[in-house]
Amino acid sequence: MKHLIDIGDLSAAQIVHLLDLTDHMVEINQRPMPKVPALRGKTVVNLFFEDSTRTRTSFDTAARRLSADVMNFAVSSSSVNKGESLRDTIETITAMGVDAFVVRHSSSGAPQQITKWTTASIVNAGDGWHQHPTQALLDCYTIRTNLARPQSFDGLQIGIVGDITHSRVARSNVQAFNALGAHVTLVAPPTLLPPGVSGWPVSVCHRIDDIISTVDVLYLLRMQRERMVDALVPSLREYSAMYGLTPQRAKRLQQHALVMHPGPMNRGVEISVDPSELPGSTILNQVANGVAVRMAVLFELLGSSPDPARDQLEGATNKQEPRAHQ
Ligand code: NCD
Repeated sequence: MKHLIDIGDLSAAQIVHLLDLTDHMVEINQRPMPKVPALRGKTVVNLFFEDSTRTRTSFDTAARRLSADVMNFAVSSSSVNKGESLRDTIETITAMGVDAFVVRHSSSGAPQQITKWTTASIVNAGDGWHQHPTQALLDCYTIRTNLARPQSFDGLQIGIVGDITHSRVARSNVQAFNALGAHVTLVAPPTLLPPGVSGWPVSVCHRIDDIISTVDVLYLLRMQRERMVDALVPSLREYSAMYGLTPQRAKRLQQHALVMHPGPMNRGVEISVDPSELPGSTILNQVANGVAVRMAVLFELLGSSPDPARDQLEGATNKQEPRAHQ
């Protein structure tokens, strides 16, 4: 694996392999000194052209825990503001000798395009409405560990509720959940469902009340107001009344059901119950798992030692030849 651009590029077996690797990373993160030398000498560049709290800090933490050097590229104070093109930015940083770019961009397809301009690995940290593959992996990992489903999600009912149209998380998660065998139902008003949804491997319904008591996982999405051009719901209050997780609805969840959200949450819109009072809420667990999953991805892309992963993770020095830089 050289890049991670689209979760659809991975087979179910490759997803499971990354989740297995994540188990090792979780174990490292629980150590008093959560750091291993697996990526010593490698340089990872975080290139975020869009706002982010958790994804950016998560990749940053993940790379540091594997002992990579991390360059955080601040777009707001860079030559991008002087009109430098994306291509020139990538070629310039590549010339400094880097091994991976972690890219978030508001244009769908930007990470794929960047692969043509650099020899480094590219990890897509969210592109437009298109893909967010590490979010899908961390969500799969969260379900797998919380519902004790190590290999497959066969028979699992997952409801994804909210603004599907503008959501790269929905697109990636549908593919990953489906690949592992779950059945996904999308729940949204028709205005928040993309036109091509009939071709997706999902069921669609327009009422959260129709699925709330049967799902094993209730996955809430944020109303992505910054990506909307028109008013697609009459009002946020109305949306909350029709689609939000209210205290009344929370009572109808199955006892084992998980409540997930990728963050950032709009409290009072998609969720008006305090998640800390929901026994099935995995929202902070998703954040913790995000670091471990991203360690697994970075290790998979950059830690190309022929030694078994475990040996390297447990502290053997990486004796590889340094990669030739352009
Ligand atoms: C998501 C994103 O940016 O795509 N957040 C995240 O990465 N944790 C979802 C969102 O913005 O609503």
